[in-house]
Amino acid sequence: MVFPEYRPRRMRQNEIFRSMVREITLSADHLIYPLFVQHGKNIRDEVSSMPGVFRISVDQLANEAKECMSLGINNVILFGLPEKKDAVGSGAHARDGIIQRAIKELKNKAPEMNVTTDVCLCEYTDHGHCGIIIDKQVDNDSTLEVLAKTALSHAEAGADMVAPSDMMDGRVAEIRAALDENNFANIPIMSYAVKYASAFYGPFREAADGAPQFGDRRGYQMDPANIREAFREASLDVEEGADILMVKPAVAYLDIISKLRDEFDLPIAAYHVSGEYAMIKAAAANGWIDGDKVMMETLLAIRRAGADIILTYFAKDAARYLRK
Ligand code: PBG
Repeated sequence: MVFPEYRPRRMRQNEIFRSMVREITLSADHLIYPLFVQHGKNIRDEVSSMPGVFRISVDQLANEAKECMSLGINNVILFGLPEKKDAVGSGAHARDGIIQRAIKELKNKAPEMNVTTDVCLCEYTDHGHCGIIIDKQVDNDSTLEVLAKTALSHAEAGADMVAPSDMMDGRVAEIRAALDENNFANIPIMSYAVKYASAFYGPFREAADGAPQFGDRRGYQMDPANIREAFREASLDVEEGADILMVKPAVAYLDIISKLRDEFDLPIAAYHVSGEYAMIKAAAANGWIDGDKVMMETLLAIRRAGADIILTYFAKDAARYLRK
């Protein structure tokens, strides 16, 4: 069928036709909102490079969760800023650690909120790397035990799902085993399966105070040039027992999301990261773009590429926009 018999504009002539033939939708069900939790009382510190994102103290969590739920957002992912850091990241699995306390607070005061935790050591180590350092290298196998202990401590505190973001080899299997041996067979693992060594994490490192103090993360996170390796990483995590595969960052890696969607049948999550958020906020603040429209177009693009789930600092803004 060609013009003039076929006119694509027929189905675009009004919003009713447009929504009838719309292929991709975005709803608050798809969104996970990241929260940064820190020590202290009554704290709401805005992250300077992430306008609208706050580091909050535990006492502020319930209100935050209730606000999210009133917008239809039922998922948060927690990142913690410990009081003290050390070489081995002990704060990550401390019984009264910041995340363990945050989970308990949420489960007490906003029990309907689904709580996922980021499992990593970089916020808890004084050197800022995601693992244990041996001979100036991030040592893979000795890190696994600490990660498993951390994930288990989150489950014990009441977390609904754990999300390892460290990129050590074999961590999904190690965490799965630790959870299963301790009666947490029902706790899913959302694996940061395909996580690139990206400059888009810049603002997050300010928010979570987790910048490496020497070197960078290219020895464990993926090379942005690689596609085939993404399949290998994802396959390994599937075999090790991942329930959700994540790609991170999102917008510069839509091709990876799309290819993984075609190849795997597990749910795919995409992390729309701090730098991606900051760029839109900065351009909007300058009046160069319409921030809300660019936000919605971006989130829709991530869904169109194949993501079922989106982790985004825009979750509340997007949910509000969707209600309008
Ligand atoms: C921890 C972690 C990072 C992010 C999520 N978990 C930082 C990093 O790997 O350096 C980045 C999230 C963002 O930029 O929004 N390893």
